[in-house]
Amino acid sequence: MSVKILMVCLGNICRSPLAEGILRSKLSEKFIVDSAGTGGWHAGELPDKRSIAIARLKGLDISNQRARQFKVSDFTTFDHIFVMDNTNYKEVIALAPNEATKSKVKLILNEIFPNDNNDVPDPYYGGIDGFENVYNMLDQACDEIARKLKK
Ligand code: 4NP
Repeated sequence: MSVKILMVCLGNICRSPLAEGILRSKLSEKFIVDSAGTGGWHAGELPDKRSIAIARLKGLDISNQRARQFKVSDFTTFDHIFVMDNTNYKEVIALAPNEATKSKVKLILNEIFPNDNNDVPDPYYGGIDGFENVYNMLDQACDEIARKLKK
């Protein structure tokens, strides 16, 4: 059985598509990586052009991804749920059917800065620099996630 990992942000067009693409690139096909947004406004859309561009610059193609909204059944489908910020955390936890599923949900930056509860900043209203910053943070966090998953 494959280990399944879900990346979650607000819109599923900026941060979590990058997290999905980055983590997938660090793991074998035995792992399933997906992403979703707590909000559904962008469902069906491609990742933001700036996320596609920064990923391409780093050698990843994320243009096959399409946004979707997080759903309660994701708690059953996925083994690990990484959220990008504290608001995502609250929204996802509020949907958890029981305590056991809550323990699947983690702030992604706690992988590299344990217990700091840092947010991956939402780059949507800024420039491409913000996307590069997000990419670099996620790259480091995903290195750590991949290292743990391969153990
Ligand atoms: P994301 O960024 O949560 O990283 O995908 C956002 C994308 C869209 C919006 C907000 C954040 N929006 O308000 O439409």
